[in-house]
Parts: sequence; structure tokens; C-alpha cells
Amino acid sequence: MSALKILVIPGSLRTGSHNAKLAATAAYELAQAGAEVTRISLGDFPLPIYDGDLQTKSGVPKHAINLKRMMSAHHGVLIVTPEYNSSVPALVKNTIDWVTRVQDAHETLGQVFRDRAFAIAAASDNRLGGTRALAALRLILAACHATVIPNQLALSFAGEAYDDRDRLKHPGDVEALKALARQLIDVSQRMM
Ligand SMILES: Cc1cc2nc3c(=O)[nH]c(=O)nc-3n(C[C@H](O)[C@H](O)[C@H](O)COP(=O)(O)O)c2cc1C
Repeated sequence: MSALKILVIPGSLRTGSHNAKLAATAAYELAQAGAEVTRISLGDFPLPIYDGDLQTKSGVPKHAINLKRMMSAHHGVLIVTPEYNSSVPALVKNTIDWVTRVQDAHETLGQVFRDRAFAIAAASDNRLGGTRALAALRLILAACHATVIPNQLALSFAGEAYDDRDRLKHPGDVEALKALARQLIDVSQRMM
């Protein structure tokens, strides 16, 4: 059987991003659990704010097509999102919006969301750890008919969640991340 490939997408471009850091930790756990992991930055896939006129005039931007194809080349996808005003940042929503507009030959619109497993995680400096962004992201992905695994991680007080060797301090967070990694791999395998 070919290696199980997981794509990890942090939803923040910020230098020192808690979510980029959590994405790196998750990528490590996924690799430890046997997956072949690709971790990207959305900074490499810059997209204008979705505008139907722009799509009509110029088509779907190349970066959205490339990102969709990168998702297609993986069996599972983990999105690690910040929480902005109780929801997902525009970056995450806008990226998903554009990717849903990509249609490759012999595929139906949005097939990339339906054919693979998704997992979601968040990191925030407050006690809720981005729980509301996770709820919003789960809803968005459900609207895309994606299979989103039940396990998730909302990392609270993210600025203090790591020790001086960049390992998660709290056993509960470590366990939640390992469980998420195992379940994403398991469900991705079943959907291969
Ligand atoms: C516009 C804006 C809105 C925010 N709203 C929330 C919020 O509703 N809940 C929350 O936990 N944090 C909120 N934050 C704080 C972010 O979670 C925090 O800046 C976090 O570090 C961003 O993720 P990053 O470190 O990966 O860039 C907000 C930040 C910004 C800039």
C-alpha cells in the first residue's frame, strides 16, 4: 500500500504564530504515527478576496488550483486555525471559498473536500483555545460535505502551552493531539 499522506495547513501567516507552532507539533505527531506529512504555509498560496466578477473575468487563481491539487495529492488534511472574533480568520474562509471553486477535469466541483478526511485544531491565548473557530470551521467543512473527524484540539493559553524544549507541557494536550493524529490517519486510511 502507498504511504498515507497528510497535508497540514496552518491558518495564520503571522511570525511567531501559535497556530503555525501547533501545526508543526501536529505534523511531528502525525509523522510519529506513520504518516508522510507535508506542512505548508498559506503565504505560498496568496489569493485575492473571493469575487465572482474576478472569477468570471480571470478564472480561479493559479494558487487556488495549486492548493486544491496539493490537497488532492494527500489522503487527509489537518487545518490549524486561529480564532478571530469567535470565528475563523478571513484567510482560512477565503482560501476554502476559492478551493471550492476549482474544478479539474473528470471531477465534480468540491470533490476534493468529499474524497478525503479532515481534522481541525486551534490555538489561542485565552481559556477557550479557539473552540468557537473550530465550531465555525466544522460547519464550513460540513457545508463542503467533508468528513471531519470527531477528535479535535483547542489549545488554551497557547503562549504558555510549551516548555523550553518546545514540547507541549500538559499531558491532556499531548493526548488530544496524539488521538487526533491516530484518528485522522485511521479515517484517511479507510477513505483511500
Ligand atoms: C481580529 C482579531 C480577532 C480576535 N478574536 C479572537 C477571538 O474571538 N477569540 C480568541 O480566542 N482570540 C482572538 N484573537 C486573538 C488571536 O487568537 C491571537 O491573536 C492568536 O495568537 C492568533 O493566532 P496566531 O498566533 O496563530 O497568529 C483575535 C485576534 C485578532 C487579530
